[in-house]
Amino acid sequence: MREGGGGVRGWRGYSRTMTVVTLRPVRDGDAESMFRLESDEVGADMIAMLPRAPGDRIAFDQHWNRTRKDITVINRIIDCDGAFAGYAVSFLVDGQRQVGYWVERSMWGQGIASSALRLLLEELDDRPLWARVASDNVGSRRVLERAGFEVVGVERVLAPRRSGEVSGLVFRLG
Ligand SMILES: CC(C)(COP(=O)(O)OP(=O)(O)OC[C@H]1O[C@@H](n2cnc3c(N)ncnc32)[C@H](O)[C@@H]1OP(=O)(O)O)[C@@H](O)C(=O)NCCC(=O)NCCS
Repeated sequence: MREGGGGVRGWRGYSRTMTVVTLRPVRDGDAESMFRLESDEVGADMIAMLPRAPGDRIAFDQHWNRTRKDITVINRIIDCDGAFAGYAVSFLVDGQRQVGYWVERSMWGQGIASSALRLLLEELDDRPLWARVASDNVGSRRVLERAGFEVVGVERVLAPRRSGEVSGLVFRLG
């Protein structure tokens, strides 16, 4: 990761509607915004493989407390003209560095996830990077492809939101 963690970052981009998109480190005070975001059932259905049920405060708090202490988790708030717009995150699974993101539903379709992922990729030196997406999450697939990720595998993944398994795509960059 590049220098500058902890303070205000210089990374900055623009959404399609020319709002200024920036990433900043997560703070303790972001917990309520994050819980509200992750309580959106429509977003959770898109992710499909999210292990926490939307609105489950206990599961959210456990996840929040664990990831806040984990130095391998790089979690960034997406800020859009000063407003909370979601998060972009990178974490390790079996030694492979993954990326993910979630944008407030009222802000979808403005290029915010695409800008946020581009900013996160500028911040991360690790390559390759990986992402896993339910095959029917067309919006997320588009965001990854636009950033240069390519599909390198298809797998069956546990999807608590779909009461079973779904087809998932494995994306790789670099
Ligand atoms: C996926 C998600 C991050 C996209 O955020 P966003 O800010 O709307 O994304 P962008 O505007 O940067 O780009 C989305 C692209 O997908 C396209 N898209 C979205 N839904 C689509 C659909 N159902 N069919 C076809 N294209 C779709 C958009 O048109 C856009 O492409 P374009 O720029 O070529 O028009 C957002 O829907 C989200 O947060 N979903 C819930 C969480 C999630 O799924 N996270 C990813 C987990 S892997």
